[in-house]
Amino acid sequence: MPITIAVGTQWGDEGKGRVVDLLSDTADLVARFNGGDNAGHTVTVGQTTFKLHLVPSGIIHPQTVCLMGNGMVINPLSFLSEIEALTTAGVDASPARLFVSQAAHLITPAHRLLDQAQEAARGAGRIGTTGRGIGPAYVDKTARSGLRAGDLLDEASLPARLRAHVEQVDCLIRLLYHGEPIDVAAISAGFVEKARRMAPYIADAGAIARKSLAAGKYLLAEGAQGALLDLDQGTYPFVTSSCTTATGLFGGLGIGIQPVQRVVGITKAFQTRVGDGPFPTELDGEMALRLRGTGANPWDEYGTTTGRPRRVGWLDGVLLRYVVEISGITELAVTKLDILSGLPALKICTAYTLGGSGQPAGEFAVARLGEYRPVYEELPGWSEDVSSARRMQDLPAAARDYLHRLEELAGVPVSLVSVGAEREQVIRTG
Ligand code: IMP
Repeated sequence: MPITIAVGTQWGDEGKGRVVDLLSDTADLVARFNGGDNAGHTVTVGQTTFKLHLVPSGIIHPQTVCLMGNGMVINPLSFLSEIEALTTAGVDASPARLFVSQAAHLITPAHRLLDQAQEAARGAGRIGTTGRGIGPAYVDKTARSGLRAGDLLDEASLPARLRAHVEQVDCLIRLLYHGEPIDVAAISAGFVEKARRMAPYIADAGAIARKSLAAGKYLLAEGAQGALLDLDQGTYPFVTSSCTTATGLFGGLGIGIQPVQRVVGITKAFQTRVGDGPFPTELDGEMALRLRGTGANPWDEYGTTTGRPRRVGWLDGVLLRYVVEISGITELAVTKLDILSGLPALKICTAYTLGGSGQPAGEFAVARLGEYRPVYEELPGWSEDVSSARRMQDLPAAARDYLHRLEELAGVPVSLVSVGAEREQVIRTG
């Protein structure tokens, strides 16, 4: 029963969609286990670019069965529009091969409004959420008052339960956040009518996974966001509200602890972050513009979900090592190596000092990230275009040295390198 887990090692946007797409070619099952439509997974196949937020990227491979696990929070309206887009693009996204856990929690339009009201109220202390209602939906889940996908099947009680939820959010928005009243009746009725169209997809996704694993099927798990946005192990409170490390698979899909063949840590060749929070290697000025791009290309560093420009910086080897440990990563998939071509020199952060003191920071603590200043190691850059490299030996020596240093810092090998946005622009060693 082989399992591969693919997870982000940074603050999301590492290029998980295209790596999962590559790893899916032999998968029987592809599953998401955390997050919701805050994720944005981009896959380019030929002339078509798929931007997926909820449905596992493995859907693009016709042989896969795709599961959306109980650890997810799902906005039925986003789900349905994604299904429509996939269907229009000729991808079979029917209930015959796509299953949504009955225990996944629902995101409603009221959750979105609450997310936005809470962000506005945080002022300078804002998290920079995607505004998709993720936090409020997980709050309702842990408060044991949430609506679950399975509740869409209970036609008798759904309208009243939904209305009670929207009324409660309306109270919070008006009384606590001094916002505009919500049109409770319109939101409730509209949501119920549309959300029910998700009903044919609802199933016991955990049971399907367990049975398939027992039958020896190969499961690929697709993490959303990145380990540094993990609710517990990330840069709290500047995190998302779910478990984004590989460990979240078991609880988030409903399978028991069992051996995992590979844990692939997806790492951009530099560092990006969208939203607020500490980022020791952050760059500004010319170099930031160079790494981010202008937004003219689909691969430039602008959010897939929100379109926000991403903060950019040099690769942080200390954070990478930390994430390898907390996620149990066995190998790295390095994305966007091609973007570094043409830079005369590259930097990697290998240690921290404390604030302006210049003193070594000592034992790493993620909670103290905001106090750390990076200590850089400089490596030579390369001028060659690497986008046509398909084997490690096709890369210039400086690019191989850069990857080798990354392996040393992470303590695990690099098994995949992407050198362009197209599906075939990749080097695979594992
Ligand atoms: P939320 O998940 O919308 O609550 O946002 C919390 C934090 O996670 C914010 O900094 C978001 O920008 C960030 N975030 C959430 N999802 C993603 C993602 O898929 N990629 C990158 N950042 C994300």
